[in-house]
Amino acid sequence: MLIDCKSLAKKIEEETVELLKNSKKQAKLVSYALNPDPSTVSYLKSQQKKAQTLGIEYVMKIFDNSQELVENLKKDSQDETVHGIFVAHPLPKDIDELSVVSLINPEKDIEGRNPVNLGRLFFGIEDFAPCTAAAVVEILTSTTSLEGKKAVIVGRSVTVGQPVAVMLLRKDRSATVTVCHTKTKNLVELTKSADIVVVAVGKPYFLTPEMVKEEAVVVDVGINVVEGKVVGDVHPDVEKKAFLTPVPGGVGVVTTSILMYRVARNAFRGG
Ligand SMILES: NC(=O)c1ccc[n+]([C@@H]2O[C@H](COP(=O)([O-])OP(=O)(O)OC[C@H]3O[C@@H](n4cnc5c(N)ncnc54)[C@H](OP(=O)(O)O)[C@@H]3O)[C@@H](O)[C@H]2O)c1
Repeated sequence: MLIDCKSLAKKIEEETVELLKNSKKQAKLVSYALNPDPSTVSYLKSQQKKAQTLGIEYVMKIFDNSQELVENLKKDSQDETVHGIFVAHPLPKDIDELSVVSLINPEKDIEGRNPVNLGRLFFGIEDFAPCTAAAVVEILTSTTSLEGKKAVIVGRSVTVGQPVAVMLLRKDRSATVTVCHTKTKNLVELTKSADIVVVAVGKPYFLTPEMVKEEAVVVDVGINVVEGKVVGDVHPDVEKKAFLTPVPGGVGVVTTSILMYRVARNAFRGG
C-alpha cells in the first residue's frame, strides 16, 4: 500500500497559505548555489515555481566563487526582509561545508543545516530540524503510532539518518531506534524485524520485499536516476506487503512543503 504523501504536503501548503495571508510582511526566500550541476539548477527552478505559486518572493543566487557566496550569505543573514536561506548541496569538495552553513542565521536556516539547529534537536527543539528528516517524521506520525515501535534507519547522514534517529527518540514519540550503515552486520535481520524502516542510502532498489515484514511502514528517502527515471532506494514491490512512500511524490514533496512553511512562519513571526 502506498502512503499518500501528496495529501500531507497539500495540508502543510494550506497552513502555509494561511500564514502568508495573515503575515504583515512579504515572505522572501533566498536560495544559493555554488557552481551547481544541471540537476541542482533544475531543483532550484522547481523550488522557485513552488515559492511563486504560494506568493513567496524567491531570489536565486548562483555563484562561481565561494568568496562572493560567503559575502552574500553574511549580508542576507542580517537582512530583515529575508525570511529563509537555502544553500544547495553538495558544495564543491574543496569548500568547507561546515564553515559555510554556520554562516546561515539559525533563525532563517529553513533547511536545518546550521550546527546551532542540529544542537537544538537534542533538546527536542525541531523548528529548524533538517528538513528531509522533518518530512520523514511528519510522514511517520501521520501514518502510524511510534511509541515502543522498533524503527530501523538505514543510512547515517547528518541531514537524514542521524536527525531522524534523534527525532524518533524524543519522549513524545519514543520509538526504539537502530541506525544502520555500511559496517552493520545482519542488516536483513534488523530490517525484517522492524515495524518502521527508513531508507536513506542512495542506492536504487536497495531494500527488497524479502527485507521487510508484513505491514511494516517503510519510508523511502532515496532519489536516484535510472535510465532517465527517478527511482527510490526501495524496490516498488515492497508496496505489496508493507506501507510505502512513493518516489517520486513521497518524501520529496513533503520536504518542499515544510521548507516553504518555514519561510511563511518566519515572515508571519516578523523575523
Ligand atoms: N527526498 C529528499 O528530499 C532527499 C533529501 C536528501 C537526500 N535524499 C536522497 O537520499 C539518499 C541518501 O542521501 P543522504 O544524504 O542521506 O546519505 P549519504 O550521505 O549519501 O549517505 C548514505 C548512507 O547510506 C549508508 N549506506 C550506503 N550503502 C549502504 C549499504 N550497502 N548498507 C548499509 N548502509 C549503506 C552509508 O553508510 P556509511 O556511513 O557507512 O558510508 C551512509 O550512511 C540519496 O539518494 C539522496 O539523493 C533525498
